Amino acid sequence: MKKLIVGNWKMNLSRAQARDLATALATRETPKADIVLCPAHVWLAAVARTLQDSGVRLGAQDVSAHDSGAFTGEISAAMLQELNVSYVIVGHSERRHHHLETDPQVRAKAEAAIRHGIIPIICVGETAFEREGGRQQEIVARQLDESLPKTGTYVVAYEPVWAIGTGKTATIQDIEKMHRFIRETLARRVDRAEQVTILYGGSVKAANAPEILATANVDGVLVGGASLQAEEFWAIAQS
Ligand code: PGA
Repeated sequence: MKKLIVGNWKMNLSRAQARDLATALATRETPKADIVLCPAHVWLAAVARTLQDSGVRLGAQDVSAHDSGAFTGEISAAMLQELNVSYVIVGHSERRHHHLETDPQVRAKAEAAIRHGIIPIICVGETAFEREGGRQQEIVARQLDESLPKTGTYVVAYEPVWAIGTGKTATIQDIEKMHRFIRETLARRVDRAEQVTILYGGSVKAANAPEILATANVDGVLVGGASLQAEEFWAIAQS
């Protein structure tokens, strides 16, 4: 199966930089991976134009749980769909932390995306404090239970919070163990759990991507910092 390589640009890049980075990647294709770029909302239209006719897909970093109405500052799944968005990240730990998003809200956002034909990338993961207390599986189990929609296609991204933007990656053993746990948990919820894409995220770079992508039950990666440089991100996609 092809790996899914997702670049989360977060709140970075000017419009020109976003277009340049998308241009640098749009012209390349690898049979090994599907590539998704997630720019800030305001650059979605510019990047969508750049990616037109390329094999690279467009993703967004968040979506409203509501379809329309009085929700100042929010962006609906229908609006994203009009911009050719194929994927949307929901429940990223930065949104759970800074915007106090709860599991039920994450689930509602995922359901809104699915209603409009967009695949949600649902993020889960424990904090350093929770891991120190040996509670990582309990936390991830609760997040899966409460933030996954009952039906529809979705991607799960395991991102240990302490590994995001810190340069610390989980050990291969930790990744393998948690991804197996996620797969087993999914098997109790859905018929074809083996077909659900499970991503790993947290300080993924070209140097550690081959080993991470070779780990059992890792179907791709969600990349933050290292997705901002074309060569580094491309090297990850080729691993
Ligand atoms: P990072 O971010 O690769 O910079 O650690 C990953 C993410 O937040 O999705």
